[in-house]
Amino acid sequence: MMSNLLFPILSFLSDGKFHSGEAMARHFNVSRVAIWQALAGAETLGIEVFSVRGKGYRLTQPLTLIEEDKIKKAIGEMSNWFNVKVLDVIDSTNDYLKKEAIKGYPHASCVVTNIQTHGRGRRGRQWQSSLGENLTFSFLWRFTKGAAALSGLSLVVGIALIRSLKKINIHQALLKWPNDVLIREENIYKKIAGILIELQGDMDGQSTAIIGIGVNTKLSKKQIIKIDQPTTSISEWTTEPINPNDFLAIVIRDLAEVLAVFEESGFNKLKDEWSSYDAFQDQIVNITSGNDITVQGKALGVDDTGSLEVETEDGLKIFAAGEVSVRSSIQ
Ligand code: BTN
Repeated sequence: MMSNLLFPILSFLSDGKFHSGEAMARHFNVSRVAIWQALAGAETLGIEVFSVRGKGYRLTQPLTLIEEDKIKKAIGEMSNWFNVKVLDVIDSTNDYLKKEAIKGYPHASCVVTNIQTHGRGRRGRQWQSSLGENLTFSFLWRFTKGAAALSGLSLVVGIALIRSLKKINIHQALLKWPNDVLIREENIYKKIAGILIELQGDMDGQSTAIIGIGVNTKLSKKQIIKIDQPTTSISEWTTEPINPNDFLAIVIRDLAEVLAVFEESGFNKLKDEWSSYDAFQDQIVNITSGNDITVQGKALGVDDTGSLEVETEDGLKIFAAGEVSVRSSIQ
């Protein structure tokens, strides 16, 4: 069981400096043993805390925790429009929000967690994250249209993320169909954010989208090694440190803007913008679709519904879903 004291203590230690067990015990009005016990639980959550006799405890580096009032403040005057919930630890924000959505959780909700223990990626993969290194959140949007009318939704979420990255001066991010956010570095495409959308509701009545987003904000070497694909993070592309609360506020606003346009006018209205961020336009790609068959061809870009057009030896093929890969070294 995680101690209720753990997050208050982490907040106390967030400056990255040493704090004695005694000072913290006094501050929280508990025993030193209670402090020690709470911090012993940190390790099981993958949080490293140094303890040095005579000096006390310290984190490996300063930490910015996700906090509701900070996000709301950064959203600004539109903040009442959104329902923002911050969790300390959860298995998966998508799973959490999926359960809440059935119970009638409000439209335009964002659930974000400081630690996600069983993050899910696309195609049954895991999504690795670690305290202070990633933003992991899910956004709920209720559509008056049914799921059948939502093709292109996952692509427009990618557009929102690219717009948000531009606002923090990261202009080189691209989209890999349908929605991975990548940055190319020395001919290698590295993933900076991933999107997992899950739909509830009717095919042609109303529907609810759970839009799960993981953004790498400040990956440590230790974390990069754990991830089984080329990866990068925001901190590698900005000189100014980016506060994750501020960045989340930017993403929330951009998501709402893009989703409103999508709802009103469909993917077609956003197609040109998506195409301008297309990482693999005119490149030779492999695409693996639902039946696990891999096809090779030239990626021609997306059609009006957001499907990918690929010119193959057997003619033009159109994919509504699938996984694209490209040779990472450009020849
Ligand atoms: C992918 O690229 O494979 C998608 C990754 C999506 C990860 C996010 S993190 C927040 C939300 N909760 C989850 O369990 N997954 C998504």
